[in-house]
Amino acid sequence: MDAKRAAARISQLREEINFHNHRYHVLDSPVISDGEYDQLLTELRALEAEYPQLVTPDSPTRRVGGAPVERFSRVEHPAPILSLSNAFNADGVRAWEERLRKLEPRVAEATYVVEPKIDGLTVVLHYEQGLFVLGATRGDGQVGEDVTANLRTLRSLPLRLPVDPRAGHTAPRRLVVRGEAFYPLAEFEALNARQAAAGEKVFVNPRNAASGALRQLDSRLTAARPLDLLCYAIVAIEGAAAPATQWQTLTYLRELGFPVSDRAARCANVEEALQAYTRAAVEREALPFEADGLVIKLDDLALASSLGVVGKDPRGAIAYKFPAREVSTRLNDIGVNVGRTGVLTPYAILEPVEVGGVTVSKATLHNFDFIAERDIRLGDRVMIKRAGDVIPYVIGPIIDARTGDERRCRPPRTCPSCGEAVEQLEGEVAYYCVNASCPAQLIRNLEHFASRGAMDIEGLGIRIVEQLVAAKLVRDVGDLYCLRAEPLLTLEGFAEKKAQKLIEAIGASRRQPLVRLIGALGIRGVGEVVAADLAAHFGTLDRLRSATEDDLLHVAGIGPAIAEAVVDWFARRPNRRVLEKLKKAGVWPTAEVRAAGGPLEGLTFVVTGTLPSLSREAAKALIVENAGKVTDSVSKSTSYVVVGEAPGSKLEKAKSLGIPTLDEAGLRTLVRRAGG
Ligand code: IVH
Repeated sequence: MDAKRAAARISQLREEINFHNHRYHVLDSPVISDGEYDQLLTELRALEAEYPQLVTPDSPTRRVGGAPVERFSRVEHPAPILSLSNAFNADGVRAWEERLRKLEPRVAEATYVVEPKIDGLTVVLHYEQGLFVLGATRGDGQVGEDVTANLRTLRSLPLRLPVDPRAGHTAPRRLVVRGEAFYPLAEFEALNARQAAAGEKVFVNPRNAASGALRQLDSRLTAARPLDLLCYAIVAIEGAAAPATQWQTLTYLRELGFPVSDRAARCANVEEALQAYTRAAVEREALPFEADGLVIKLDDLALASSLGVVGKDPRGAIAYKFPAREVSTRLNDIGVNVGRTGVLTPYAILEPVEVGGVTVSKATLHNFDFIAERDIRLGDRVMIKRAGDVIPYVIGPIIDARTGDERRCRPPRTCPSCGEAVEQLEGEVAYYCVNASCPAQLIRNLEHFASRGAMDIEGLGIRIVEQLVAAKLVRDVGDLYCLRAEPLLTLEGFAEKKAQKLIEAIGASRRQPLVRLIGALGIRGVGEVVAADLAAHFGTLDRLRSATEDDLLHVAGIGPAIAEAVVDWFARRPNRRVLEKLKKAGVWPTAEVRAAGGPLEGLTFVVTGTLPSLSREAAKALIVENAGKVTDSVSKSTSYVVVGEAPGSKLEKAKSLGIPTLDEAGLRTLVRRAGG
C-alpha cells in the first residue's frame, strides 16, 4: 500500500473505531463484536507502525498510554473550578431556595435540573478545533495537574468531537468541558478481589481507586483500568454561543459525543426536585457508579451566575447529599471462611449497625494482609461502608477511639473448620487449609457440585449440604449417589416425602452431560467454557483423566495453568476415589456426548431470555453436546440466536445484524433434523 492509500485507510479506520467506541462506551449499544473491533484496531496499529509519520495524537491507538512521566505539569484552569454547598435534608434545600429568592425575586419562577452527584474526580477537558488537547485534574480549583496522557486512555472520552451536519453541530473553535471520572462499581469490586488475591493494596473506595488510576505517572497503568466519565458543564467556549440553560448544556454535550448522565431531569420547582431526590435515593442502589447525592441546579445559567459565589460554592446549585453509607461500629470478632479451594478469608463480625437503611453485622476484611496493613484490632471502632450492591467492607480503624483494650489479631494457625495446620503457599498472600477432607471445603464443594450451573440437583442447597456433612452421611460428592432415605429421616426437617424427593433429584442428575460433570468437579480454572472445551475434545471422563499436560495443551483455549491444574486434580488420591465412586454409581456420562462431528458442528449460538422448558444452562449444554458452540455476545459470526421470553438487547442486535432466531422448539428440531 502506498502512503496515500495508507493515509486514506487510516483515516477511515479511525472514523470507524471512534464510531464504535462511542456506541460501546457512551451509548452502551455496540453494533459489532469485540473481536471485530479488535480487528479494526489491529489493522490501524499495523498501518501506523508502517507509517509512523501518519500517527496523530487523536488516533484511537493512543488510548493505550505512553511512556511514564517524572511528574505532572501544572495547568491553570480558564475559570475557577468551583465546588458545591451541601444540604442534608429537604428543609435545607427549601432554605437555599428562599435565600436565593430574597437575593433575586425571579428565582420564584425558576426551573431546575437535577443530576446524580458522582463520587469521582473532577476533570477539565480542553478541545481545540474539536481535538482533545489537554486534560487536567481539579487541583485547588485554580491550578490542576496535566493528566492528558492518562485521560486519553478513557474509552468514553471523545478524542475528536464528531461533526454532525444534520444536527448542525460543529465543534466550536475552543471548548473546555467539566466532568467527573469514576471507577465503575462492579469493576471496583473485581479490582479489589484481584488485588487482595495477589497480596496487593486494596482500595478503600471507588473514588480512591479512580484517583490512583488517574494520577499514575505511567499512563499504561491507567489504560489497564476501566475508568469511565460523565460530563456536565462547560467551563469555556469560543467560536460558538454558550448554551443558555443547564438542560441545553447537557443536550449540547451529548450531541458533541460526550458521555452525559441519562438520569438528569428537569423540574418545574424545588418541590419537584425534592421528589426527584426521593426517587434518586432509591435508584442509587442500581447505579453503576457511586453517587453521593443529587445536584440541584438552576436551569437558567445567566440567572445562576448572576447570583454569584460564596467562598468556592456557586449559589446557583446545591448538592443534596444521600444518607451516609459510611458508619462506625465496634469490631467484635473476626471470623474466617474456608473456600472451596481451601483459601481462608477473614470477615468482620460487627456490633450490628444501620447503614443506608440496611442492618449490617458482617463485613469483608479482604485478607490477613489487609488486617495487618491497616492495623485492625479486635475491639476497635471501625469505619464500614456499603456502596451499591457491593458487600459491606471495613475501611479501617478509628485510631483515636482506642481505649487500650484492643487486641491484635493474627492469621489462624489451624483451619477453623477441621483443625488441621494452615499453610501459606509460596508467593501467595492467602492462607490455605490443605486438608482434602476438611468439612468446610467439602460443604463448598458439594454446594458447587449441586448448583444450577453444575449438576443442577434440585433441593440440594447449602442448608441440606451442611446437614449431610454434619451427620457424616456424605464425605465426598461420590457419596451423594449412595444416599438412602432411612438415615435422611434422622435429619431435622426431613420426612419421608422430602427424603424421597432429594434422592430422586440426585438420581436424575446422573443424566447430566459430561460438560456439566467436568464443571461440577471444581477443578481450579475449569468453568463452564473450559469444561465445554474439555468435554468436546476428550469425549469421555476416562480419556480426560488419563490426559497429560501435553495432551491438554493441544486443546484450543487451554493454557499451562489450567493444564497443570487438571492433571494435578486427577492425580490426587481423594479425587481418584471420588471418581471411582461416581463411576460405580453410574455417573459417568459418555454415550450422550457427541463431541466432534455432532449435528451442530460449525454453528455458533447465543441464548437469550427464558426458554419454556430448558434452563439457560441446559440449553447451552444441549448445544455443546451436539458439537455446537455457545458464546455470550451476538456478532456477525453468530449462526442462530435462541430466544426465550423477555429477551434482552441481544435480540435487537440479532435483528440489526440479520441473524436468524430460533425458539426452544426450533433448537430441538435443528438438533434432531441435523442429527437424523
Ligand atoms: S456541578 C459550578 N454536577 O461534586 C459547578 N458537580 O461536591 C459545580 N460532582 O466538585 C459542580 N457530579 O466534582 C456538579 N452532576 C454534577 C456532579 C458534580 C459530581 C462533583 C464535582 C464537585 C463536587 C462538589
